[in-house]
Amino acid sequence: MKYNTIEDFTCTGKRVLVRVDLNVPLQDFIVSDNTRLKKIKPNLDKILKNGGKPVIIGHIGRPSGNFDQNLSTENIVLELEKILKLKVIFCDTLLGSEAIKASKDLQPNSILVLENTRFYSGEENNDPEFSRQLAKLGDLYCNDAFSVCHRKHASTVGITKFLPSFAGGLVLEELSALDSALTIPKKPVTAIIGGSKVSTKIELLQNLISKVENLIIGGGMANTFLLASGKQIGTSLCEPTLIHIAQDIIERAEILGCKIHLPNDIVTSKTLDGLNKIRSSDVNSCPPNEMIFDCGEKSVEKYLNVINLSKTIVWNGPLGVFEKEPFHLGTERLAKFIAKKTIDGFLNSVAGGGDTVAALNKYQLSHEMSYVSTAGGAFLEWLEGKKLPGLEVLEKN
Ligand code: 3PG
Repeated sequence: MKYNTIEDFTCTGKRVLVRVDLNVPLQDFIVSDNTRLKKIKPNLDKILKNGGKPVIIGHIGRPSGNFDQNLSTENIVLELEKILKLKVIFCDTLLGSEAIKASKDLQPNSILVLENTRFYSGEENNDPEFSRQLAKLGDLYCNDAFSVCHRKHASTVGITKFLPSFAGGLVLEELSALDSALTIPKKPVTAIIGGSKVSTKIELLQNLISKVENLIIGGGMANTFLLASGKQIGTSLCEPTLIHIAQDIIERAEILGCKIHLPNDIVTSKTLDGLNKIRSSDVNSCPPNEMIFDCGEKSVEKYLNVINLSKTIVWNGPLGVFEKEPFHLGTERLAKFIAKKTIDGFLNSVAGGGDTVAALNKYQLSHEMSYVSTAGGAFLEWLEGKKLPGLEVLEKN
């Protein structure tokens, strides 16, 4: 094992300062999607079973060092109590004698939640003094927030200088899923990358073409690639300044043996609101005054054939504007097919990123994928081949 884990430490009677991702959507101070909170339960259960006392720290939103009641971790306490079926104590501060006392007073079978780490400027600055103060809240430190491991913050990096540290169960689970998709995958591997902009995913595409056999490019990003391949794309969203990068990716992919798949038919309209005619056309006949909002049926058939011959799928980004019917069809059919192949045991499917997870949830398919990552930015950076600072500090010496 490359990382320190709970097995490397004795937890009995010790306060374990656990960094989790509490960044869940809230509506009127109530948690509206508890997926991330459910995911932290197994690791907390394990710490408790090993006799440890979990002291939870985490962030909600980006308050940039300022207090904001809307983003207080107090808002998640009730939901966490329901999920964990334990007493959850809240302390309305993060540092100082009150928080230290609360951590020391913690009784068995209860956990302590401290205030949002991002209410303090020392967090995002990875300030050593802030990290030293944080460290007073525990005897051991556990990072179970894979989705924040790309951030070099006090609660993910600085703290490890002051406390014996280990990776939590969710971090290990995410890493094992990602490894099974890209580091040691069953081949052929197909990556499906969608979303609106090439500019946010250049490094991702550059890394993937050296790792996967097939790359399906969808969403608004595909338009820039279509333009780079000499197609007309009407008034579609695109990034003309990135055409040369798209061309370079197409050429390098060919040299590296990665086949890039672009739409060969498209669904277009003048607007997204459904008030104008919606047309399906060949990709060579895009109406000049319309925008591409989804790939067409022939493209979907082509993609399903590629997936049918694959053993591993990595998916980040929808194929079309799935939030607006009827531009959801490409994404929905793809999701259903991947789910079925996964359930039938033919495919290892790993998906991640906000829009992809939203699409899978919409079609109630999240549980039918092999793994759905809770991470957004960290998932992307890992796929880009970057080292995540929050993980590096957990490696065994
Ligand atoms: C996420 O939502 O991806 C994580 O909580 C990280 O949040 P951040 O992008 O604000 O650092």
